[in-house]
Amino acid sequence: MDNQQMIQEILRLKKEKNAVILVHNYQRKEIQDLADHLGDSLGLSRIASKTEADVIIFCGVKFMAETAKILSPDKKVLLPQQAAGCPMAEMAGVQDLKALKNQHQDAMVITYVNSTAEVKAETDVCCTSANAVTVVKNVKADKIIFAPDKNLAAYVQRFTEKEIIPWDGYCYVHEKFTPEEITKAKAAYPNAVVIVHPECPPDVIDMADEVFSTSGMVTFTRQNEASEFLVGTEEGMLYRLKKESPEKTFFSLGTAKMCRGMKMTHLEDLYQSLLKEQFEITLPEDIMTRARGALERMLYYV
Ligand code: 13P
Ligand code: SF4
Repeated sequence: MDNQQMIQEILRLKKEKNAVILVHNYQRKEIQDLADHLGDSLGLSRIASKTEADVIIFCGVKFMAETAKILSPDKKVLLPQQAAGCPMAEMAGVQDLKALKNQHQDAMVITYVNSTAEVKAETDVCCTSANAVTVVKNVKADKIIFAPDKNLAAYVQRFTEKEIIPWDGYCYVHEKFTPEEITKAKAAYPNAVVIVHPECPPDVIDMADEVFSTSGMVTFTRQNEASEFLVGTEEGMLYRLKKESPEKTFFSLGTAKMCRGMKMTHLEDLYQSLLKEQFEITLPEDIMTRARGALERMLYYV
């Protein structure tokens, strides 16, 4: 089967099975082009909680498909590539989180959705990069354990006097951006606006013009009058931004940086996933119930 035939089969199977294809902004372009909904973690989890489809195919990484399952427990949720994971999500273990909670019994636990279902189950409120600042500001607590991204924690700390106890995790993709890259890129493209993701290190955020979640970048670049942008996030984002604003120019900030987990899903995986209904996300009922509480409180707070 060639790619065109495979695309036709994907569309046919999707209809036959009443499936919806949710795709994260970092996915390969051919996968982005097949999305029913293309977005960031927050947007896609909202859609997952409301969809009428029987099957959700999540083209992203495991924690995203797990989040969809937790919010839509009666649906069949499929992750086309079993190995597609987010290393940052694995950096926070549930036993270590329990120990930290014990040490700070007066703190509330706010966990980034880039985390395991078990960690979400030990969490008071979840957040995404799009709403982390709002969630931290709105919760009724002055002391917060924030896991697993230390860079997002440091970013949030800029906007609040609350005490934030950061976990020591990070995203290996965003951690690679450097202030030197910004200096060089700005010299090469003096009219370009520098936009970065809040998972970037603090010294990179200091030098950026704007900081956004991936969907925040889409809205900003569509509305902003500038015609050139330097983009500090995973390289799949450039395709998404160009798709939305074809008349504008987008450059990677420094060298293009790739997330291995996000790039594991190919057309063939999506096709096989629909055909064989693989790989289904299953989670223990009690974990799902507790994790759902943390995710629903997030959706309530924003
Ligand atoms: P967004 O929610 O901004 O899309 O971020 C998800 C992610 O994994 C960033 O690395
Ligand atoms: Fe995880 Fe980073 Fe990949 Fe996002 S880009 S999925 S945080 S490893």
